[in-house]
Amino acid sequence: MTMTLEPLHPFGIVAHGCDLTQGVDDATFARILAAFNEHALIVFPTQSLDDDSQTEFSARFGRLEGSLREMRMFEDRPVRQEVLDVSNVGADGNLIPRTSKEAIPFVANELWHSDFSFKPVPAMASLLHGRIVAPEGGQTEFADMRAAWDALPDEKKALLEGLVAEHWLKHSLGTVGYEITEAEKAAMPPVQQVLVRRHPVTGRKSLFLSSHASHIIGWPFERGRALLDELTEFATQPRFVYRHTWQAGDLVAWDNRCTMHRVRPWDVMRYKRVMRRTTVAGAGPTVSEGRPTQFA
Ligand code: OGA
Ligand code: MN
Repeated sequence: MTMTLEPLHPFGIVAHGCDLTQGVDDATFARILAAFNEHALIVFPTQSLDDDSQTEFSARFGRLEGSLREMRMFEDRPVRQEVLDVSNVGADGNLIPRTSKEAIPFVANELWHSDFSFKPVPAMASLLHGRIVAPEGGQTEFADMRAAWDALPDEKKALLEGLVAEHWLKHSLGTVGYEITEAEKAAMPPVQQVLVRRHPVTGRKSLFLSSHASHIIGWPFERGRALLDELTEFATQPRFVYRHTWQAGDLVAWDNRCTMHRVRPWDVMRYKRVMRRTTVAGAGPTVSEGRPTQFA
């Protein structure tokens, strides 16, 4: 397989010449992994993957997470356990209105976030495959949290090091008007995540922000909230953001440890947008007993 890599702006890379359905040899995968760690985002244009081949390729990056359906949060869709259906098409084939409970995953995805930061061990990577893409809107934006960190003044960096935020799905879903049930609360209690991470491969530091983060532990709620809002606004300036306009079949892999992403709105009652996500588990919790861990 002759793969060539082309940089994207302001970050990320496109891998040309890969047919992911044909099996990727070890030497090529080593280049993919190195590019993933360095660039934090890789686009594999127009891949004709199905759930099985997407799962097989994704598992090269590490152990895969089960979908949210594990927690019985959203209705079952006919996809395998490792695959998350992020589409606006219901099991009956009809478009899902934004007001339906089934729309929560894609409506909440309009908020800047890092996948599964509401779990004790946040996701390492996600791979999103565009099965049917919207002809307008529905782009996905990615913010480089390493570049954002680098651009902060030193006094700010000193303030942020060592801070811990509370992340809770209740918080982000509340933002889009959804009250989680008592059972969902019990299944997904609040967790703590460091605010600043260091990448285990490159050693680069980055902000760790997400729509799931509500406040800073040990700070008055409103003060922590204001800091998170200020940092999110800073980190998602256009100079740090790559916007992906989907072609059918594109697979985008990103590093959740050092990026945030969000989907841009599209006309959900007019256009089908069918995406499938596979999620690679993180190595460990970023906080243990209130303190940063080796996985931070
Ligand atoms: C996700 C997600 C964005 C999109 O699947 O984790 O945030 O563009 N998706 O669908
Ligand atoms: Mn996401």
